[in-house]
Amino acid sequence: MFDKKIRPRRLRISENIRSLVRETNLSVKNLVYPIFVVPGENIREEIPSMPGCYHLSVDNAVELAKKISALGITSVEIFGLPEYKDEIGSSAWDKNSPVQRAISAIKKAVPELVIVGDVCLCQYTSHGHCGKICDGYVDNDETLKLLQKVALSQAEAGADIIAPSDMMDGRVAAIREILDEKNFSNVIIMSYAVKYASAFYGPFRDAADSAPQFGDRKQYQMDFANSREALKEVEIDLSEGADIVMIKPALAYLDIVSKVREKINNPIAVYNVSGEYAMVKAAAKNNWIDEKKIVLESLTAMRRAGADIIITYHAIDVAEWLK
Ligand code: PBG
Repeated sequence: MFDKKIRPRRLRISENIRSLVRETNLSVKNLVYPIFVVPGENIREEIPSMPGCYHLSVDNAVELAKKISALGITSVEIFGLPEYKDEIGSSAWDKNSPVQRAISAIKKAVPELVIVGDVCLCQYTSHGHCGKICDGYVDNDETLKLLQKVALSQAEAGADIIAPSDMMDGRVAAIREILDEKNFSNVIIMSYAVKYASAFYGPFRDAADSAPQFGDRKQYQMDFANSREALKEVEIDLSEGADIVMIKPALAYLDIVSKVREKINNPIAVYNVSGEYAMVKAAAKNNWIDEKKIVLESLTAMRRAGADIIITYHAIDVAEWLK
């Protein structure tokens, strides 16, 4: 027999009672919306594997930034396709590249919008790896010098937050050093501290034309079988000066989010990545799931696990749903 005094169901009796005792809330203020910018003008092409997301030229990216700011979204992350690629990814720090132009133009048009710059080389290198190749291997320390250039060029363009996603050792320290040296000591570093080598990035690599042309990223991105290693990566990045740490992907990694949450006092971001988005979109298109309910449940679960910030392609829809 159970003790009839104790009935957890009492606290579920109506929506207002439930909302009174709700432990976690999802707000549009927690969200960052990723934008893909491309060379050219007046371009707006839907990305086939990411329905609802577009390749935008800078002019259209600015228009979108105004729209999403009006919806209450406070932050965007800028990804880009360059005009040219080479062995070392030099278009990544070209101030005339779409990313740098988009950062400046959005900052000018919507100054209050927080701009995150993704710092990596894979979209810009001819081989699609996230660093400089020396003897067939992505050379860590040579890559750091290039990442410093990318971070600096994005800070100069007006980025508020620099988000290195390359997974080289020591890149947070290298980026902090160059930013401080060039008087950008208030530019925030949100490191992709815990980034797994994941098949969930598939649609993004189509969108960003950034798939490695040989091999894979397992020599720098983390093995998805590991969780202690995540704590180690977070510890290292914080000791190098990261302000916010990110865990990526999100849904299959909420155990990691929860473990990191227990250990640190810095803000945590999660990246609800392209493959997670594409699966929801495909199932919803077939009417197999209720898209709105699935998305709100998933994003709330990320918050419950301990994420403060969620980078998500669903941000615009969520902003509309939560209005
Ligand atoms: C660049 C980068 C990737 C993503 C964000 N930055 C791809 C990768 O590492 O291959 C993935 C984002 C997504 O899947 O939505 N290194």
